[in-house]
Amino acid sequence: MKILVINGPNLNMLGIREPDIYGGKTYSDLCDMINEHSIKSGIETEIYQSNHEGAIVDKIQDAYGKFDGIVINPAAYTHTSVAILDALKAVSIPTVEVHISDVDKRENFRKISFIRPICKKSIFGKGFNGYIDAVDYLIENYGDNL
Ligand code: DQA
Repeated sequence: MKILVINGPNLNMLGIREPDIYGGKTYSDLCDMINEHSIKSGIETEIYQSNHEGAIVDKIQDAYGKFDGIVINPAAYTHTSVAILDALKAVSIPTVEVHISDVDKRENFRKISFIRPICKKSIFGKGFNGYIDAVDYLIENYGDNL
């Protein structure tokens, strides 16, 4: 099984950006955690980060026929991007939305997620563990025509 993990803008700044909200661990710590979990689970994972909406759209399109699941934290694009929603719809790969913080308990604009309606599950407010839960959900439901 192959899972693509996509992270949107400013997530490369984890550990530096707003540690009171996102914690003190770095983006590289996040990647290590996901990679270790995939090895333990016997799956393949590719992790991608971009600050650019079009690059994220390209990456989703490129995943067509290559990945069995997508875990995506579109970061700020969650609340604005029809293009990312349309790309996910186009490839129809089972997708789980993740947010490190509890977006429902922050500013009103963060309560809106353009991608949520097409995601199989949305996980937020669980810190880095949300990514692990998302990977596990995709593994558990693999082949179930999610
Ligand atoms: C975030 C929440 C978004 O509102 C924000 O723009 C981010 C990170 C999260 O992981 O909690 O950049 O997606």
